[in-house]
Order: sequence, then C-alpha cells, then structure tokens
Amino acid sequence: MEVATCINVNGTTLLLFVLVFSLLRASHAAAPAVYVLGASMVDVGNNNYLPRSLAKADYPHNGIDYPDRKSTGRFSNGMNFADFFAKKIGLPTSPPYLSLNNDATPPITGVSFASGGSGILNETGQTYIQVIPLAQQINYFSLVRNKLIQQLGQSSAQKHLSKSIFLLGFGTNDMLAYFNNGSTIPKQYTQQQYVDHIVSTFKGLLKMLHGLGARKMVVTGVGPLGCYPLKRKLIKDGECDVEVDFWSARYNDGLKMMLRDLKSESKGMKYVYFDMYGAMSNLFQNPKTYGFTDIKEACCGLGKLNADVPCLPTSSYCTNRQNHVFWDLIHTTEVVASIFVDLLYNGTQKYAVPMNVRQLAC
Ligand SMILES: *[C@@H]1O[C@H](CO)[C@@H](O)[C@H](O)[C@H]1NC(C)=O
Ligand SMILES: *[C@@H]1O[C@H](CO)[C@@H](O)[C@H](O)[C@H]1NC(C)=O
Ligand SMILES: *[C@@H]1O[C@H](CO)[C@@H](O)[C@H](O)[C@H]1NC(C)=O
Repeated sequence: MEVATCINVNGTTLLLFVLVFSLLRASHAAAPAVYVLGASMVDVGNNNYLPRSLAKADYPHNGIDYPDRKSTGRFSNGMNFADFFAKKIGLPTSPPYLSLNNDATPPITGVSFASGGSGILNETGQTYIQVIPLAQQINYFSLVRNKLIQQLGQSSAQKHLSKSIFLLGFGTNDMLAYFNNGSTIPKQYTQQQYVDHIVSTFKGLLKMLHGLGARKMVVTGVGPLGCYPLKRKLIKDGECDVEVDFWSARYNDGLKMMLRDLKSESKGMKYVYFDMYGAMSNLFQNPKTYGFTDIKEACCGLGKLNADVPCLPTSSYCTNRQNHVFWDLIHTTEVVASIFVDLLYNGTQKYAVPMNVRQLAC
C-alpha cells in the first residue's frame, strides 16, 4: 500500500490507474529486492554454514519466540532486524547466501550476506575463528550480480540493482574489538585513529558496492555500546561505560560525515543513516512508554546481568521477553528490532537521516 504514495496519478486515466493499482497489488513491494550485508544484528543463518565459527546461534534458547521455537542462527529470541525490514518493504526475508545452491539462480527478491561477529575490517571477528568480513560479503554479492546479469541481461540487471535496497548493519564488532580485554589494537592506533580507519575502510567498500550497481543504501550506526550488558556488567551498579559510549558516538559522527561525502562523490547514490544510538537511548530514557521494565540485564545468559556467558543451552532465560531490551549480552530482543525498523522505515528525521526508508524506496 505504501507504494501508492510514491506514484503520481496526475493526468492518468481512471483505467490506467486501476491497471497500475492492480499490478501494484499483485506485487506491492516498495523495492524489487533487499540485499543485506552486516553482522549478527541482521544475520539470518549464514554462520550456520561456517563449520569452524564460534559466532553461532543455531541452538536454544535462541529462537524461543520464533515459529516452532526454531533456532535458525538468528541472534535473537525471535525475528531480527533484517526480518522486520524485509516485511516493511513487502518482501520475504532475504535468505542466507551460503544456503543457496551454487548453480541455481539467486532469488530475485534479494540475498543476505550477513555474518555474526563480522566487521568492516577484515581483522574484526578473528576471535570467532571464522566469519565473513564485509569485503568478502561484497565478493559474494558480485557473484550474485554476475548471475543476475546472465539471467536478466546487463541493462535489466542494472535497473533492478539501482532500485534495490542495500541494508548494511555493521560497526559494533569493529568498535568493541578496541575495548576487548587483551586487544592489541590500542598498541597500533589511538581511539580516534581507529575510528577514522574503520570509517575510511567502510567508505572504500561502499564505493565498491556503488561500482557494482548499488544506489540505495541503508546504513545503521552503532548503539551506545557502553550500555550493552557486556559492558554494564563491568561498571559499578551496572551503569553505562561512558568511555565506550563516547567512542560509539564518535564513530557515528564519522560515519554520518562519510556518507554525506560519499553521496556527493557517487553518481545516483541515495542513503538513509539510522541513528541507533539515539533510538536506543530513547528506549533507556522512556522504558515505560514501550513496556520495558528491564533495560540493563540480558534475558538469556548467566552471571552478573546475565552477561557473563552468551545465550547457551545451559543459560537461563527470562519468562517475559517483551519487557527486556536485551536478549543476550550484546543483542536486543525481537521487540526492540521491531521498534527500530518502524523508526527507520517510517520515522521522522530524528532517527532516519536525511530521509526514511519509505522515502528512499520511492
Ligand atoms: C580483505 O579481504 C579481502 C578478501 O576477502 C581482500 O581482497 C582484501 O584485500 C582484504 N583487505 C585488506 C585491507 O587486507
Ligand atoms: C582481563 O584479562 C586478565 C587476564 O586474563 C584478567 O586478569 C582480568 O580480570 C580481565 N579483565 C576483565 C575486565 O575481564
Ligand atoms: C507513516 O507515518 C505516517 C505519519 O506518521 C502515517 O500517517 C502512516 O500511516 C505511516 N505509514 C506506515 C506504512 O506505517
């Protein structure tokens, strides 16, 4: 239905309008496809296919609120950000690239390359042994693009990609790597140098994506990472780690500036930046508005704030997932993902900058 708002009906005959309208109803998606690149916030199962990876969620209690209580590899009690995003666009969730048969034609409504634990930098996620960094995700995308060209021809494939939405959910793992116990990054970079390094690497890779035909990019900032259970548990009284929050915000500032520059340098590019930091801070400040009674502790885990271990089969979990912001030590609950996607898709410029996804899709 939202698509109808994008169409200018001036001067069209009633017959044409009816025709267009029935076509839209047949496929009322706001975009032809969603291509997803990112980390655990949007991974819908790629890591299930990485035999050596330690970043997995294909076991209980993950998925406890998913249909049939299935542990799909989503780092969530139920659906995640990518699921709600696809639903808003009017498309099925883009399936994991690694679940596709190599010979088959890729689904025309999009593919997901996202991999839990991965980052913008190739080095990020090494503690998980096996993840798919952004550069490799783009390599995989280029293979899908080749098949699209074979299938549709160069010009139709190009047109398809130019209308498709590229959802990029990165940054958390790159940023947290700096603060990890025993991290060697502080020996190589100051915090500001590291933030600049991530942002400039991201810029180069987004340029590559633009070169492969991506025009509509949705890029998420990072949340206030110092307020995630894994950081709160280290601070007295479970308060936020203000240093980690400060650098989370600095990364987001760099990212926003980079996207503005990239747009001015890249023909036909449009983007939406999602201010996850602001959106999550708003939840922390107004928990009751959204029905949250627990903004600090993870629902699933063990130990202090349930953040000493991930959500493992041996972990305990809360009975009410609706009133928790965090599912485990680092991932939000399904309900938070849904709130965020609502803001991103149809919210004001407070959190979706410089436009929302409904406007981007037009
Ligand atoms: C990152 O990995 C890709 C292969 O996936 C490689 O092509 C690229 O050169 C690497 N980048 C850096 C900076 O090492
Ligand atoms: C960091 O690691 C050291 C050595 O393993 C350990 O003694 C210390 O408690 C750890 N610090 C935190 C904050 O986990
Ligand atoms: C989008 O937001 C506008 C204004 O708040 C509202 O009227 C409209 O129903 C919303 N549309 C969708 C699809 O959520």
